[in-house]
Amino acid sequence: MSLSTHRAPVREFWSRRKQPPPSPPQTFSIVRPQEVSPQLPASSIPSHVAPPPYYMSGEPGPSPESPEVKTPEAIAGMRTACSLARQILSEASQLARPGVRTQEIDEAVTRLAFEAGAYPSPLNYRGFPKSVCTSVNNVVCHGIPDSRALEDGDIINIDITVFISGHHGDCSETYLVTEHEEEERHAGARRLLEVARGALHVGIDQCGPGRLFSGIGGAIQKFVNSEGFKVIPAFTGHGIGSYFHGPPDIYPCRNSYPGRMLPGMTFTIEPGVSEGSPNILVLEDKWTAVSPDHSRSAQFEHTVLVTETGVEILTQTN
Ligand code: MF3
Ligand code: CO
Ligand code: CO
Repeated sequence: MSLSTHRAPVREFWSRRKQPPPSPPQTFSIVRPQEVSPQLPASSIPSHVAPPPYYMSGEPGPSPESPEVKTPEAIAGMRTACSLARQILSEASQLARPGVRTQEIDEAVTRLAFEAGAYPSPLNYRGFPKSVCTSVNNVVCHGIPDSRALEDGDIINIDITVFISGHHGDCSETYLVTEHEEEERHAGARRLLEVARGALHVGIDQCGPGRLFSGIGGAIQKFVNSEGFKVIPAFTGHGIGSYFHGPPDIYPCRNSYPGRMLPGMTFTIEPGVSEGSPNILVLEDKWTAVSPDHSRSAQFEHTVLVTETGVEILTQTN
C-alpha cells in the first residue's frame, strides 16, 4: 500500500469522520534480559549421569554428514530420551505461572533431569549457560533463564532437551501465563498459540517414507500465512540422535533442501510463528533471539521418527 501524495485532503477526510478503530491494547510486556545466575559447574553433574561430549568444552562433537537411518538400538535410545523430555516439559509447564522466575524453571529442569539420570542438553552446549531455553513474549527462542518473574499475560516457550541412553530428545511448547485463560484480553495470545501448534501438526502430516524434507516447510508456510501470521525462517528443525543438531535441516518455510525421508530417521519440527516481523536479532549474550519490532511469536516442537508406514511422534504426551 503506497501513501497518498495529496496529504491535505487525506487529513480532512479523517477529521470529518470518526477516528479509526483503536488497535487492541497491548496485553504483554516487552522482555529484556535480566540477571543470569552463575553457570552450574561440570563438577556438579552427579556421577550417575553420563554427559554428552560437549559438557566441558562446549564443542558439539561429532554428527553425521547426511541424514542418518538409525538402528533399532538407537531408536530405543531415542524413545527413552524423547519420553523423558516430554515428562520434564509437562512438569516444567506447571511453573508457567505469574510470579515464577524463569531461573526457577531452570532449577527444576536441572533437578528433574539429574534425578532421572539424564543430562540437560542445553547446559554448556556451544556455551549456553543454562539447562533449558525460556523464551518470553518478544523473545523468539534461545532465551536464557534469568531473574525476571513471569507476568500475567506473558507467553513463554519452554524448550526441553535431555541426553540419556546416549541420545537426545527435544520438544517445546508455548504457554499462556495467567490465572484467567478465558478472558478477552488474552484472545490474541490464544490465537497465536493455536496457529503455532497447528503449524507443527501441519508439518508432521507431511512426514512419511519417501516424502521430501522440503515438503514440510512448504505446507507450514502455506498454513501459517493463510491464518494471517508469518513463519520465522531463521530457525529450523534438525536431525537429532547421539548429537543434538545434525542433518537434515527442517525449514519452517518454502525451501529447496534436498532429500527424502527414510524409515529410521529422526528429526525435529519446530516452526516459529510470528504475529509481526518474521525477522530476528540476536542480543549481546550471543543467544537470546528477539523480534526487531517487539512482536510476539510462539513455537511448538516435537521429535519424530519416520516409520515403514508413516511417522511417529516420539515426544508425544502418553
Ligand atoms: N532446544 C533447541 C532446539 O530446539 C536448541 C537450544 S540450543 C541451546 O533446537 F544451546 F540453547 F540449548
Ligand atoms: Co528444542
Ligand atoms: Co530442536
